[in-house]
Amino acid sequence: MDGNQREQWQSRIGFIAAAAGSAIGLGNIWRFPFITGKYGGGAFVLVYILILIFVGYPVMNSELLLGRKTQRAAVGAFKALAPGTPWILVGYMGVLAGFIILSYYSVVAGWALAYMFKSGTYMVADAVPGDIFVGLITNPGAILFYHTVFMLLCIGIVAGGIEKGIERWSLILMPALFVLLIILIIRSVTLPGAGAGLTFYLKPVLANFSGEGFLAALGQVFFSLSLGMGCMITYGSYLSKKEDIPLSARYIVVSDTSVAILAGFVIFPAVFAFGLEPGAGPGLTFITIPAVLAKMGPSGHLFGFMFFTLLMIAALTSAISLLEVATAYFIDEMKFNRKKATLIMGLLIWLLGFFPALGYSKLSHILPIRGMDLLDSFDFVANNIMLPLGGMLTAAFIGWYWGTDKAIEESSIGASAKLGSGYAFLIKYIVPIAIFLVFLNSVGILG
Ligand code: TRP
Repeated sequence: MDGNQREQWQSRIGFIAAAAGSAIGLGNIWRFPFITGKYGGGAFVLVYILILIFVGYPVMNSELLLGRKTQRAAVGAFKALAPGTPWILVGYMGVLAGFIILSYYSVVAGWALAYMFKSGTYMVADAVPGDIFVGLITNPGAILFYHTVFMLLCIGIVAGGIEKGIERWSLILMPALFVLLIILIIRSVTLPGAGAGLTFYLKPVLANFSGEGFLAALGQVFFSLSLGMGCMITYGSYLSKKEDIPLSARYIVVSDTSVAILAGFVIFPAVFAFGLEPGAGPGLTFITIPAVLAKMGPSGHLFGFMFFTLLMIAALTSAISLLEVATAYFIDEMKFNRKKATLIMGLLIWLLGFFPALGYSKLSHILPIRGMDLLDSFDFVANNIMLPLGGMLTAAFIGWYWGTDKAIEESSIGASAKLGSGYAFLIKYIVPIAIFLVFLNSVGILG
């Protein structure tokens, strides 16, 4: 270890804001509602919550405590606890997954950035929201512009460091996100005809649910909680021994889930109130919401600006956590200083982002996986393969190599109530088996 003092979160609330900020993102506001719409509404929500408790919560604890124990980011944590073994590859896979996810996450966040100022196009009388969306994503100049602006925002925040960058900005942006969300929910549920949307969303009709929906829920839990690639190991590595890990994990899981569920309260009442299709897929946010706004009258400009600002803020506090994984690796293991590490990593990810950014225009002929465009292919590899594999291996590492007793002991430091035998059972058996099933499904789709 070198003599430098490792950076630390300055307050418990600052850490919670940053970790919840990482978890709450496009996954909650963009992905959760359209997946829910696709897999049957209320029944999907029910299954999602069960998986959250039995898989998401134990893995969240595991990643945080691995980070705090070793005071090292993804790669360093495995190196410290299992020197000279292939476990280090789990850490490297995490860094690589961070690269891939951020490269396309920034492109989607760029769409949100563009839409913040687009109400002038979708609010006009004969606007066709689908055409406006396609017009944007097939315009290489515009897409690269927004991708670049978004990456610069990320680099600026992460270069500022843990306390003065990530923690400070999370403490500003997260409350803003909650306020915007509440305003939008009030608008949406008071629209005439909102009731049908609430019924669809809240009433579990199990007949609408499929096995595939189960697997989609598991994948969504991982993506939404930022698990499976060492992101929470990295954030945990800046925690002091005074912090209560199980309690923090509960705060993060509950706030992330609340925002996902609340986002559904914005989307579904509005979609049903205006007779649109809840299962519209990824376009639900960028096509359906503008269609709803256009029908709201002049106030649509204001609510549109608020909605896409909400989406952009949520994306920003998640994107910085993705950039931090790669940055922290270069600081910890390569001894780069923070500014240099952030700039180099940011630049590489920005360049990689040219592929998903141009996947609907100049590079639309490249369809690497089963006919999917570049953005979907990147999402597929990271989300359906690397995250589940990383999560499964992290659980297996604790359950079968390092030892759940050691994990439970670390979790008890600074905690009011430590983890127990329930945690050990979930991490050894339930989590790896459940994830293995998702993984099989992904490979099945591939083959
Ligand atoms: N959780 C974020 C979201 O819901 C995305 C994200 C940030 C993420 N960091 C991650 C996903 C690490 C997987 C792994 O939008």
